[in-house]
This record gives sequence, C-alpha cells and structure tokens, in this order.
Amino acid sequence: MSELTSPTGLGLRDEGPREEWFNDEQTGERLVRMGDLVFPPRKVWIKTFGCQMNYHDSERILSHLKDLNFSHTEEVDDADLVLFNTCAVRDLANNKFYSHLGNLKHQKAKNKGLVVGVGGCVAQTEGKDLVKKFDHLDFAFGPDTIDSINDMVFRTYAGESKFSVNTWDRSSNFSIETKITHGNPQAFVNIIKGCNKYCTYCIVPYTRGKERSRRAHEVYDDIRKLVEYSGIQEVMLLGQNVNSFGKENGESLAELLMLLEKIDGLELVRYTTSHPYDISDELIAVHGEAKKLSRHLHLPVQSGSATVLQRMNREYTPEHYLGLLEKMRAANPNMVISTDIIAGFVNETDEEHKDTLKLLDAAQFDFIYSYAYSERSKTRASRWQDNLSDDIRGERLREIQAYQLQIQEKIRAKMVGNTYRVLVDGNRVFKGEKKWKGRTNCNRIIHFLPETTEQNLQWHWVDVEVTQTTALSCQGKMITNIGRRIPKDLSVPYKLW
Ligand code: SAH
Ligand code: SF4
Ligand code: F3S
Repeated sequence: MSELTSPTGLGLRDEGPREEWFNDEQTGERLVRMGDLVFPPRKVWIKTFGCQMNYHDSERILSHLKDLNFSHTEEVDDADLVLFNTCAVRDLANNKFYSHLGNLKHQKAKNKGLVVGVGGCVAQTEGKDLVKKFDHLDFAFGPDTIDSINDMVFRTYAGESKFSVNTWDRSSNFSIETKITHGNPQAFVNIIKGCNKYCTYCIVPYTRGKERSRRAHEVYDDIRKLVEYSGIQEVMLLGQNVNSFGKENGESLAELLMLLEKIDGLELVRYTTSHPYDISDELIAVHGEAKKLSRHLHLPVQSGSATVLQRMNREYTPEHYLGLLEKMRAANPNMVISTDIIAGFVNETDEEHKDTLKLLDAAQFDFIYSYAYSERSKTRASRWQDNLSDDIRGERLREIQAYQLQIQEKIRAKMVGNTYRVLVDGNRVFKGEKKWKGRTNCNRIIHFLPETTEQNLQWHWVDVEVTQTTALSCQGKMITNIGRRIPKDLSVPYKLW
C-alpha cells in the first residue's frame, strides 16, 4: 500500500502527467493521453451520501473525470469506474455505504477491469483500513484530495492498486474555481471548508480538517463568471460553518453577501450551514437589507436544554438562540427558520428532552431535521459513559418529530392565499395529473398545475398562489409564467414572499 506524501489539496495538483485530447487517426474517436496511457471513452457511476458539501464534491469529481474521457452513467452495471462519496456523520449513512460496497464484490468478480474507489469522510479516517479489508476496493481518497482524482485514476490504470490518499490541504489559503457539470441555473459554491468547533458529538472536524476560507473577491469573481458564462441565477454558498467565513482574512459573510448584491443577473443567494455562536449583528442587519438574499435561514440548535448544549460544547444557551431568532425576525419579518435537533444526547434526562419540546414551541421552526444521537469514535462524547438506550432515543426522536409536525402544520396553513415566486426545478405525476414544482425564496417546495398539460416550465420563474397545505407539502396554482429570466420591472414583488 502506498500513500501520497506531498501536500496536494483542493484546487491544487501534484506535478505530474496531464490530460491531452486527440483524435484516433483511424476511427476518429476522441481519446485522452495522460503520461504513457491512452484513455478511451469510459463510464463512471458515483453514489453520494451525506451533506451538500459532499454532493458538490461529487460534481467536482465528475467534472475532473470528464477530462479523462469519463462520462457519467446512472447504471452501475454499465460503469468502468465505480465511486462512493461517503459520509461518517451517523451510523445510518455509514451502514448504507458498507452494504453497497459489499454488493459490488460480485460485479467486480464478473468484470475484472472494473475500478472501485471510495472518497469522502469515511475514506478520510478509515481509507487505509478499507482498502485492506475489501479485496475489491482499489483506492480510497479523502475530501481534501478530490482535485487529484484524475491522478489517482491514472495510477490505477497504470497498474497500481490498494492505495489510500488522505493528505490534508496545507496550502495557506483555500482557492478554487467552481466547476459545474449540469446546464441548470442553480450552483453550489464552496466558500469555506473544515470546522473548528469540535461539538462533542461530531466527527466532521476530524474528517474535514481546520477551517479555511476563500477570499471574498475570489468568490465574487467566481460567481460573476458563473452568472455571465454558465447562466447561473441562484447560488448556494456552502461550508460546514459559513458564519466563520473570512475570519482568518479579516473578511466576513456579511460583507460577502453585500458584495454579491452587485452581480447583475444573479437572482437568489442562499447559504448553509450556520452556527449560532458566529451569527453577528452585522449579518442579521444584512438579512434586512440584501435584496438577493433568501429569507430562509437554517440555524441548527441541536437541543433546547442549556445543560445539554453545554455538554455538546455548543457555546450558547437556548435564550441566546431564541434572542437571535427574535433579532432576525425584527430585521426581516418574513424570515423563515429551520433547524437540526439531536434526540437523546449522552445521558439526556427526561427534563432536558422536554426543554427541546419547549424550544420548538418558542422558536416556531418551519421545518426541522432531527436525528437520534449516534456515537462516533474519535469524538469527546464517545468517551463518556452513557446511560440512555437506543429505544429511549428512538421514542424521544418520534416525540420531537410528531410535536414539530403539529407546529409546522399551523405555520404552513398561513401560507394559503399568498403568492410566491418559485424557480421551477421539476415535475411529478400525482394521481394521473402532472404537477410542476419549485422552491420559494424562503425554501418551501410548492407543487402546482400548469395552465396546459403540454407546457414545459422547467427552469422558468413562476408566481404561484398557495391553495392548500399540510404539515409537509404545499399545493398551488400558477398565476404568472415569467419565463427563464426575470425582467427588471418584475423583480420586486417576490421579495415580499
Ligand atoms: N456543520 C453543520 C452540519 C453538521 S452535520 C452544523 O454544524 O450545523 C449535520 C447535522 O447532523 C448536525 O447539525 C447534527 O444535528 C447532526 N449530527 C452530527 N453529529 C451527529 C451525531 N453524532 N449523532 C446524531 N446527529 C448528529
Ligand atoms: Fe460538527 Fe459542530 Fe462543526 Fe457543525 S459546528 S460540523 S455540528 S463540529
Ligand atoms: Fe457527512 Fe462529511 Fe458532510 S461526515 S455530513 S459528508 S462533512
């Protein structure tokens, strides 16, 4: 087993052979030469687990592999290269990956040329063990090495196998250019990587490393180019803790958001994920001012109990958290807030659990993601004696979810009669009727009937009136089909909703 020792990282590649396109003289086929190898057209299948950062990394991986003559396939049986982009945050995601990887053994037995690689957060910490343990696994690579994916694939086709690359990017700044492989108007844009928070339950600081931000002007130029040359109209700024953006460079998320306001043709800016500790008054004020900024904020609280938050090392109290929501809603009365909750943290008492239900009442979240606590090795909480059973965690999780559904049913009911502007991103057939769907500025999905069945509304901006809601869905009818671009005179009203 070998390991790369030189510091490669996001946006950086080691010295080495590069991809060159040429046409086969006899067949005219497009081929790629890298070093002394020729790459004919091949297919890559990729399965992604975990957060948006991982989905974005997969997009980046596919974009690099295009340069090595790989095209993307949805059919695993057609693939020459199979990749997993893994998540280590909870057992569930972990287990799904292991069963998928196990199943591939048979495919590799039938097709000896098949190359199998594992990337992402499990590969960062377990990569070496994985390649040892699974005979049919050729290589593993951590999240900081994805810009070297073509070098790794080259190495496997050059005859090397069973290697693991999990070096950290040690460059002093985080610099990349966003790569997109799709033709749609929405793009993920990484602005900060890593996490310095070390919440006691969380594996992420161990899989993604230290916080490192891109420079604000680089992000601005990147997005301006995406808008100008790739037709992007909506961006999602990504990071494990975007509120720490720019700290090491004397810059801030608030400043970046105001800078992005200047980009003509950019309609909507979202960001995720935030940590309550780093929400500044300046950022709150920007939520009242910025015209392009989504009026949705995902602000994970994790628990409503002061003592649990302390054991989690979250560095705020429920009162501080609720104070932030109040300030946000004062800055922009239409703010929509969502959160993450962990049920049954180590030694959580019944009273502490009830405090979370109380917080749900006080906060009035639009939706929540909730999880039963899952012990992760390496974390501080994993070293503590824990007296809670999985059954209790499960019960508390179900109670939290049922409680929240009642709250959000009432919040959603208030949407009826309001008109929202959505960017249409797909359709589905409901009981024989084709309905289109899109996400509002405030991050709610609305399904609606078109005026005529033949109408193709994909990637159109549409004003939709909400006619009916449940705790989990919104139905509406189309009021105006604006088209693929919003004319200047129509760009104001949707800011209201
Ligand atoms: N950086 C983000 C997201 C981290 S992971 C943040 O800080 O908010 C996404 C969510 O997974 C977390 O918000 C938390 O609710 C949940 N999570 C993380 N570790 C967990 C664990 N060990 N068990 C259960 N849920 C966990
Ligand atoms: Fe994990 Fe906490 Fe960092 Fe979020 S802020 S990634 S929960 S350590
Ligand atoms: Fe999972 Fe890694 Fe994201 S652990 S949640 S894929 S940062």
